[in-house]
Amino acid sequence: MAERVEVLLTEKEVNDRIRAIGEQISRDYADRNVHLICVLKGGSFFMCELAKRITVPVSLDFMSVSSYGADTKSSGVIRIVKDLDESIKEKDVIVVEDIVDSGRTLSYLLNMLKERGPKSLALCTLLDKPERRVVDVDVNYTGFQIPDEFVVGYGLDYAQKYRNLPYIGVVKFD
Ligand code: IMP
Ligand code: MG
Repeated sequence: MAERVEVLLTEKEVNDRIRAIGEQISRDYADRNVHLICVLKGGSFFMCELAKRITVPVSLDFMSVSSYGADTKSSGVIRIVKDLDESIKEKDVIVVEDIVDSGRTLSYLLNMLKERGPKSLALCTLLDKPERRVVDVDVNYTGFQIPDEFVVGYGLDYAQKYRNLPYIGVVKFD
């Protein structure tokens, strides 16, 4: 089956929006430090770009949970593959994700992080597919709401491909 990628959001659109979210976070967290948690691997490109646009002090940590294999549908099975290096106790934490789809991954992750006693816990996602939601999740910062299509680029993959595209594209199967 042939596969091609159509541009949904250009590099400029994505970067402009990330800049605006960075400014918003800098205002919301004025006089505080923000501790960004990147959900690997998809959130990595977004977190780097976002962190550069935040003007209050930033620290970073990474975690990895499995939810998707080479398939385009959520399995509902979530497992911590890599946990955080540092404690989040009493920190102002923002979880940075590539996309909220069914909401299963984030709902699980946020509940788990809440139990570790952060001072505050927020969620920032580059993309949101609200039509696909199965589990409710509170999203504090959203880059773009997108239709129910499988997207790649800017960290998002299809079978580990296309993460390095500097824009968001839709995978089409001909
Ligand atoms: P959820 O648990 O269904 O919300 O799935 C969240 C995870 O599924 C994301 O962090 C992505 O890794 C992956 N995912 C969901 N939709 C897409 C997509 O359109 N393209 C690539 N990955 C996706
Ligand atoms: Mg992800």
